[in-house]
Amino acid sequence: MSRNTTTVLAFGKIKDTVRYRLKFAHFPYLERALESERVRCGQGMTILDVGCGPGNIASFCSMPGDVKWFGLDLWEHQLAQAAAKHVYAGLFQVNLVDGLPFKEDSFDAVVCNEVLMYLPNAAELLQQFHRVLRTNGALFVYNPITWLPNIFAGARRRLRSIHQERRSISLDCQTDWKNATRACRITYYSLRSLVEQVRSARFEITDVAGFRIFRNRIRAMTRLEDYRWYYRLTESIVNRFPRLAADIMVVGRKAGSQPIERRALSGRAAA
Ligand SMILES: C[S@@+](CC[C@H](N)C(=O)[O-])C[C@H]1O[C@@H](n2cnc3c(N)ncnc32)[C@H](O)[C@@H]1O
Repeated sequence: MSRNTTTVLAFGKIKDTVRYRLKFAHFPYLERALESERVRCGQGMTILDVGCGPGNIASFCSMPGDVKWFGLDLWEHQLAQAAAKHVYAGLFQVNLVDGLPFKEDSFDAVVCNEVLMYLPNAAELLQQFHRVLRTNGALFVYNPITWLPNIFAGARRRLRSIHQERRSISLDCQTDWKNATRACRITYYSLRSLVEQVRSARFEITDVAGFRIFRNRIRAMTRLEDYRWYYRLTESIVNRFPRLAADIMVVGRKAGSQPIERRALSGRAAA
């Protein structure tokens, strides 16, 4: 799948304080990618939005009425916000730590936007995404990455757990999640480790795309997001060097019975 630089701009559909919001730059990408999946599938495409939260993605991506979105999340307050968007054919309260309660070959696409990093069982879950996808179905995993070596990632995780918000919970201890309202990040991926984890779940990697360089917005940087040149500059940098991106979209496809060839990562696309 190739990216079209003129259509990745995220302004216009999401209300925000800045015109060219890099945080949402992957939404139009996803919308285009899902549209081409819909064309591939023909009518009646089904999409699973894993950890759907308030339903931002499903409500952003305009899809024809025969496309059915299904969403799942751990917390009721998230599901209530998603339900209020009126775009889901079904919403389920599921703790992903317990796996996916769907039959195999149930969906044409699985979207996992900023969720994998919260899960202690990410590798196992990716295999479940593979199981519930139909053959040739597409997986879209969007997740933060870091270029720091693992040793620093461990230190960051520890620091973060000290400064964690009071009501967030690390689901690797799986204690009292009902009394919490949000999860905290437990896995720090690099580009390579994320791509390799998706690949290990038997997905053929079809694209790896970066969208922004800085994840935490500093006030001065926020101002820059009002300018198209900044958006373009950022995009051209992470296009060439996705390793420098703060988050990446890894697109995988559930191939037929063909064994997946292991390829070395190079450039922006792993394929
Ligand atoms: C950063 S939000 C992303 C929400 C949504 N995907 C979006 O893009 O707007 C992460 C979501 O993952 C959900 N989540 C975290 N841990 C979960 C778990 N163990 N089971 C199900 N959902 C979980 C959270 O409730 C939250 O809605």
